[in-house]
Amino acid sequence: MNRNEGFVVWFTGLPSSGKSTLAQRLKDELIKRGFRVEVLDGDVVREHISRGLGFSKEDRDENIRRIYHVAYLLKRNGVVVITAAISPYREIRQEARELLKDFVEVYASCPVEKCIERDVKGMYKKALAGEIKNFTGIDDPYEPPENPEVVCETDKETVEESVKKIINKLIERGYIEPTDEDVYTEEEEEIIKKRLEDLGYI
Ligand code: ADX
Repeated sequence: MNRNEGFVVWFTGLPSSGKSTLAQRLKDELIKRGFRVEVLDGDVVREHISRGLGFSKEDRDENIRRIYHVAYLLKRNGVVVITAAISPYREIRQEARELLKDFVEVYASCPVEKCIERDVKGMYKKALAGEIKNFTGIDDPYEPPENPEVVCETDKETVEESVKKIINKLIERGYIEPTDEDVYTEEEEEIIKKRLEDLGYI
């Protein structure tokens, strides 16, 4: 990575899968570590740079193109960018990956039943009642990533656990430096040692 440049953490996942929550928590964590950080959240982007776009495949792809272009400009100027849009289509995410290069894809994985239960904005309810058409996860597709850098199972992990996974990946990739707090606890070290033994590495 060019040290003067930032990097991009690209969240993808169903509505109510936890993208925005994780993005905000990750932002706080990275600011604490001295980075300049911007979050490009789907809902906010759609109020401003993507106002007027709908939810057809074409419009969603156009929304993602606008997001990755802004991410590109910010990243080029040393800002760490966190995006949190559903970004349901694999192909356009690949396009973003190729343009942005320093690209860490995080899949906020959560069964749709659980997302329906959470229904943060009450939109699944409307979609299930037929009041909203083409709602992702109900009657519109979501293509999960095949090789994301990080999978956060938001129905099983706490927000802190998920953020830690992402932080560890950013350390592993050399985007951020570990701090004293990133040192594993004895308990965690035991678990890691056991896993490596099970895999026959040690
Ligand atoms: S994306 O598909 O283009 O990536 P984006 O993340 O920007 O979507 O916007 C999703 C938000 O728009 C949801 O959080 C929800 O509040 C709202 N929304 C309205 N209609 C739909 C729909 N048909 N499908 C998904 N989200 C919708």
